[in-house]
Amino acid sequence: MTIRVVMAGATGWVGKALVPAIAAQADMLLSGAVSRSGAGQDSGLLVGVPANGVIASATLAQALQAPSDVLVDYTKPDVVKDHVLLAIEKGRHVVIGTSGLGAADYADIDAAARANRVGVIAAGNFSITATLMKRFALMAAKYVPDVEVIDYASARKADAPSGTARELAEALADVRKASTARPVSEVSGVPGTRGAAVGAGEGVQVHALRLPSYILSCEALFGLPDERLTIRHDAGSSAAPYVAGTLLAVRRVQETIGLVRGLDALMD
Ligand SMILES: NC(=O)c1ccc[n+]([C@@H]2O[C@H](COP(=O)([O-])OP(=O)(O)OC[C@H]3O[C@@H](n4cnc5c(N)ncnc54)[C@H](OP(=O)(O)O)[C@@H]3O)[C@@H](O)[C@H]2O)c1
Repeated sequence: MTIRVVMAGATGWVGKALVPAIAAQADMLLSGAVSRSGAGQDSGLLVGVPANGVIASATLAQALQAPSDVLVDYTKPDVVKDHVLLAIEKGRHVVIGTSGLGAADYADIDAAARANRVGVIAAGNFSITATLMKRFALMAAKYVPDVEVIDYASARKADAPSGTARELAEALADVRKASTARPVSEVSGVPGTRGAAVGAGEGVQVHALRLPSYILSCEALFGLPDERLTIRHDAGSSAAPYVAGTLLAVRRVQETIGLVRGLDALMD
């Protein structure tokens, strides 16, 4: 059965790659696109490919007036939750690429999705190799209790930590054993330089760097006496790595009820 997809953030860095990719899938139909800057224009022409006949809407509410099955959201941290809850209320399944949501937001989204019997798949990083990096780090955390995360991104990134680093830290916090590091509350000087604890329990310290020249990299550093292990992912300058994972989530989300977090949940 053809999956009818609405793309929110159609003219963004990731959206521009996804609009033609969705349209090219034999089992998908681009049924709507949301762009405030390109409203009223053909969404294919807006992203630099031939016209596809899908006219961009200024708001998600307008785009959802036409029938569709799945919303894909790559917009901004301050709008994604409203978008997701609106789509769920309208009976759509949702794939969340946008970063910036926290555990409380995801709990609200899960409750709304269950109440409306729809699925939501959210991943801080839809790239295959970033997902493998998380998987390898979780394997290491079973054996090495001391781990911290470094999150590298461009100077103008709107949120910190990145979705990749947040999801990694939350997952590590769930499996790691107690750290041997001096608790941040006992550190003198400027304790904020020890980063922020992310995740349940004592959490995992995350250090977010924002500098020109970085795109998106994430590092899990593990330490034992006299040895260290670094597991690192680096994204290149195109949005291509996120396309295959997002399309996989679009295909799988209708089998789900409630929230699933992380591409790793789908990969096997
Ligand atoms: N999960 C992953 O694998 C992954 C990968 C890369 C990026 N991301 C995340 O995905 C999000 C988007 O990234 P990006 O690099 O594509 O961003 P971007 O280039 O800034 O694009 C965001 C798009 O959202 C639209 N937008 C902005 N404000 C809006 C609003 N108030 N209402 C509706 N639409 C709005 C903008 O289009 P208009 O101005 O035309 O409306 C813009 O095209 C970020 O949170 C980023 O961190 C996730």
